[in-house]
Amino acid sequence: MKEDDLRALMGQMTLAEKVGQLVQLDGGCFGASDVATGPRAKLGVTQADVDVCGSVLNVLGADEVRRIQDAYLERSRLKVPLPFMADIIYGYQTCYPIPLAQACSFDTDRVRDNYALVAEEAAADGCMVTFSPAVDVARDARWGRVMEMPGEDPYLSARFAAAAVEGFQGGLDEGRGMAACVKHFAGYGAVEGGREYNTVDMSERRFRQDYLSPYKAAVDAGARLVMTSFNTVDMVPATANEWLMRDVLRDEWGFDGVVITDYAAIHELVFHGVAADDREAALLAIRAGVDIDMKTSCYAANLAGLVAEGLLDEAAIEEGCWRVLLLKNELGLFEDPYRGCSAERAAAVACTPDRISSVREMCAESLVLLENKDVDGSPALPLAKVGERLALVGPYADSQDIVGMWAIHADRSHSRSVREAMAAVLGHDPAYAKGCETLLDVSFLGSFAKFAGGGSEDPRTPEELEAEALAVAAGVDTVVLCLGEHMLQSGEAGARTDIRLPDHQVALAAKIKALGKKVVAVLFNGRPLVLTDLLPHVDAILEAWYPGTAGGDAVCDILFGDVNPSGRLAMSFPETSGQMPLYYAQFSTGRPKGGSHEGRFVTGYLDAPNEGLYPFGYGLSYHSARLTGLRLSADTLRPGETLRATVTLSNDSDIAGTDVVQLYVRDLVGSVVRPIKELRGYQRVATRPGERVEVSFDITEEMLRFWRRDMTYGSEPGAFQVMVGFNSQTTASVDFELVG
Ligand code: BGC
Repeated sequence: MKEDDLRALMGQMTLAEKVGQLVQLDGGCFGASDVATGPRAKLGVTQADVDVCGSVLNVLGADEVRRIQDAYLERSRLKVPLPFMADIIYGYQTCYPIPLAQACSFDTDRVRDNYALVAEEAAADGCMVTFSPAVDVARDARWGRVMEMPGEDPYLSARFAAAAVEGFQGGLDEGRGMAACVKHFAGYGAVEGGREYNTVDMSERRFRQDYLSPYKAAVDAGARLVMTSFNTVDMVPATANEWLMRDVLRDEWGFDGVVITDYAAIHELVFHGVAADDREAALLAIRAGVDIDMKTSCYAANLAGLVAEGLLDEAAIEEGCWRVLLLKNELGLFEDPYRGCSAERAAAVACTPDRISSVREMCAESLVLLENKDVDGSPALPLAKVGERLALVGPYADSQDIVGMWAIHADRSHSRSVREAMAAVLGHDPAYAKGCETLLDVSFLGSFAKFAGGGSEDPRTPEELEAEALAVAAGVDTVVLCLGEHMLQSGEAGARTDIRLPDHQVALAAKIKALGKKVVAVLFNGRPLVLTDLLPHVDAILEAWYPGTAGGDAVCDILFGDVNPSGRLAMSFPETSGQMPLYYAQFSTGRPKGGSHEGRFVTGYLDAPNEGLYPFGYGLSYHSARLTGLRLSADTLRPGETLRATVTLSNDSDIAGTDVVQLYVRDLVGSVVRPIKELRGYQRVATRPGERVEVSFDITEEMLRFWRRDMTYGSEPGAFQVMVGFNSQTTASVDFELVG
């Protein structure tokens, strides 16, 4: 529709119809029954609200989308179609590894390609807007939502954010893509104590520097929507935060798309204690520039009244309504309210072999080999396909539930468990025993406990399961032990204070190790875990995260050496839960270890090191490689110029491999305290056996900018250090001078 016609359409709308555009309701409100029971009644939503409602939450399936759209348009006076919005977080029916895993690939080009495939699959089935990517910088592994995020680093997260948006939206004009909604704006990853929905509070400088850049990257990449977060920002909930939503997002960043709340966040302003009731909450949110109220009746029930009372200018409603109409127009809904979705189109693209193999390829880059000790003089992995007697043990060994909490629509019938995949590799069923359940007691999951186990609960007692596993293990050389968290222990509202593996899983590993076997742990989990208990009982650890549809095959690809692992951690693994939050880009302190103070009076703990067990950027491969000869093209850099850092990468083995070469920078003296290192570049570099290659990074003045003492954004002349390495701990360095 031409913009003039769209304006004319808005001109015909009543106030109630304009308000309606700002209301999002879920599928329950569009059910077959016309009686307002269930969700509608609970929400205080009337049939009149439903008739003018602007968008739909979490309904999928082309037939259902068409049915709801048709029924709605028939009743709608001005025939303004509904966009269908849903959480397509890391896959639709074909499910990719969780975002934290994908970030471990350091392969943002692949992320872009994957998300384009995801968008095509979901759009064919009626999804028009996805509530993704989530790019909350996550440094506290106690927080369950770290599985949805690209890790602890602002730079890597920003690149991931842009890639995901470009992937989702790439085919938007041709009807293949979906509009992307970046979330949760802003700072949600910094909830205190890692506790879900908790307070976030920090200096503006830190907020801008460490937390805002991934959202900004998504906005710069063209994300059409932004979702507010549940948390406070400087003690004002994001959903009522004018500074955040107007000054930063709209005025500074120039965002002109739609702002939508997270689920019921306007109503929650009352519980935050910043609004006395829903009416005041609605006023605060609309004033802050929040366009769509997701799933409450706060806007529907109150905005028109607020205008009538003179407390709100109708222009504020028109501002939001116009943005929603522009989005609908851009989605082409006035021409085709279904955006071409159909059951046939959906079936043609769902879980196609090329999609499933793209998941397998993503896994090959996302899974992280954490340990590979020598056993009888050679590394525990890879396993031999013949001649090594293998057993597969553990609650995840024969599970297709390896997709993670947000894979709501994943079609598990296309997944193979590790057991099935291993049988395909070996040509026979491997010896197998479940060994134990993931959790001994799932009662803490409350009403969600009914989803626990996914129907795979074993009627046998823990003792019987264990006895069977030990008997199976006794007859083989090597036990592959598939352990992990329960899928519902991470994801939204999946915060934990103790992020170790359950004791009974560690005990099983110990008993198997005591039989004198080679033990290879494959871990399925949604967060970095504390693995110090497990470490003495295993010879190798492969972190598989929740690897998605092709996860079983991908794990076997790595176990048997058909794929040489190249994943590197996007989030540090702690020694102990008490180190949280843990991240490599620590700030300088006045009492560093190795500084002028000695012994007790330096920054640290009495009972744990400062560093985690495995640092950001870390991961092993089957080949061995070295970085040598780090050098700079000059020892000074001026604004507008480029300094080139070069290092020699040598593959010292007879195996081809891929390394993630990482560039870190340190500003040695700043007007404010600066991090001890910050990632500023990375490259995945493939080498052949014995090959040496030169790897170069360009460094510019822009890469050295930060929020200075006077809160301007820029660099400061002076001494800098460049570090290049295979992870955030082991780095060689050279210095240069930034000249003003
Ligand atoms: C989550 C969001 C999600 C929304 C809609 C909320 O509970 O925080 O990430 O997009 O629900 O399902």
